[in-house]
Amino acid sequence: MNLARLLKDPVFRTVGAAADSLGRPCYVVGGYVRDLIIGRHSKDIDFVTVGSGIELAEAVAAGMGRRRCHVNIFRSYGTAQIKRGALELEFVGARRESYSRDSRNPIVESGTLEEDIARRDFTINAMALSVNAATFGELVDLYGGVKDIEARTIRTPLDPDITFSDDPLRMMRAVRFASQLQFQIAPATFDAICRNASRIEIITIERIKDELCKIMRSPRPSVGLDLLHRSGLLPLIFPELEAMAGISVVHGRGHKDNFYHTLQVVDTVAAASDNEWLRWAALLHDIGKPATKRYDERTGWTFHNHNFIGAKMVPRIFSRLRLGMGENMRYVQKLVELHMRPIALVEDEVTDSAVRRLINYAEDDLDDLMILARADITSKNEEKKQRFLDNFDLVERKYEYIRTLDAERARRNPIDGNEIMHIFGLSPSPAVGMLAAGLKQAIKDCEIDDTREASLAFLIDLAARNGIPVVNPPAMEEEKEEEKPEDGA
Ligand code: CTP
Repeated sequence: MNLARLLKDPVFRTVGAAADSLGRPCYVVGGYVRDLIIGRHSKDIDFVTVGSGIELAEAVAAGMGRRRCHVNIFRSYGTAQIKRGALELEFVGARRESYSRDSRNPIVESGTLEEDIARRDFTINAMALSVNAATFGELVDLYGGVKDIEARTIRTPLDPDITFSDDPLRMMRAVRFASQLQFQIAPATFDAICRNASRIEIITIERIKDELCKIMRSPRPSVGLDLLHRSGLLPLIFPELEAMAGISVVHGRGHKDNFYHTLQVVDTVAAASDNEWLRWAALLHDIGKPATKRYDERTGWTFHNHNFIGAKMVPRIFSRLRLGMGENMRYVQKLVELHMRPIALVEDEVTDSAVRRLINYAEDDLDDLMILARADITSKNEEKKQRFLDNFDLVERKYEYIRTLDAERARRNPIDGNEIMHIFGLSPSPAVGMLAAGLKQAIKDCEIDDTREASLAFLIDLAARNGIPVVNPPAMEEEKEEEKPEDGA
């Protein structure tokens, strides 16, 4: 098969010419070839040559004109990298590589293209495309990668036990590709993941985290999460999530499977938003359930305070998975804690003050909280589900209304800074700002009416509490009577 028509960027001809000048074969390999065939966009291009990758990179750079690109050389890995616009070109010599059982450090020796390809993870990643002028675009597909792309299958080129024992992270990569590309893992490959799952323990948490995050960013994260569970990888990398799987039954009464409920919530959120941290909030919203699960003869299964316990678990999970302890963690924690508020609100009565309290708790994250709360309604009873969703519509209409009302109130300012300075004999200073901001907030929070009279009373009281006396008592204008529409009578 010749795929020259897909190699449109002139960089491929440039690299091919440099390889020809050294008299060496050179191929594009791995993920770039896979994505080219699938039609996905990819910016990292890996080139393999037989011989030194560093020498080839230097020849390529010379061909491009050295001033236009910089070669980063990693001698200990025998690799070199050139950045060119948005593209990242990586050069490496073909290798024969095997890993010792107890170490992540490969034993690397130079090899042929065939040996290099055989040691790769999956058939879809084990194809090479020639860039030498004489064979430009010719595909080397020794393990049926094109066929597997067509069949949407993830399969190892060699015996899967060997491929996974060479690098156990590949078990997670298989799951990640299945989730990302919506492919199936071939049964023999999947069985090998189940057999070798415990080997994941030699992999660093950072590499595991990267794959987990890619699963969470995939179109339907449930595909990957379910495969992690079914293969036995999940208890090793994310025991808190695994603990949610299963149903307990007492006196014939069971609760729903919280793991599969969670997967459904994550997928619904993923369909509604690309915000990866909102997806993490969905993944963790019920994480406190196993720890709070109780059976009560009268009420059946309960998970009291699972939102609070769950929120408390978030920092530990983020820290262990190296997900960062900053703003994103706090956002996830907040949504986990608040995820039941909207539902509690619609179970009661959707009053203005209840909606206002929700706005105050959730602040800028209210829209995200509503996406999560809606996704959390996974009841199979369509009528019940619709009733909740209709009530959420009502909440959203109300909070839109309250938001506009508040914005209007905040804009209307019965007493401005100049008048504050006059009344209290102040020159421009932080005290003026404090009084003005206090008044604005009180109006916004509906603590006082937005009339001149109420504002003056509030300001005088606030000033007095801060030891600021009234210097020029304000003239109390008569409140203008509100204009009434003429009724024509
Ligand atoms: N590879 C491998 N085993 C690994 C990692 C990578 O065999 N544990 C090989 C595969 O051939 C892969 C190539 O190295 O295609 C490049 O790896 P990488 O850039 O990590 O992955 P991609 O396949 O390009 O996919 P992505 O960029 O989505 O991670």
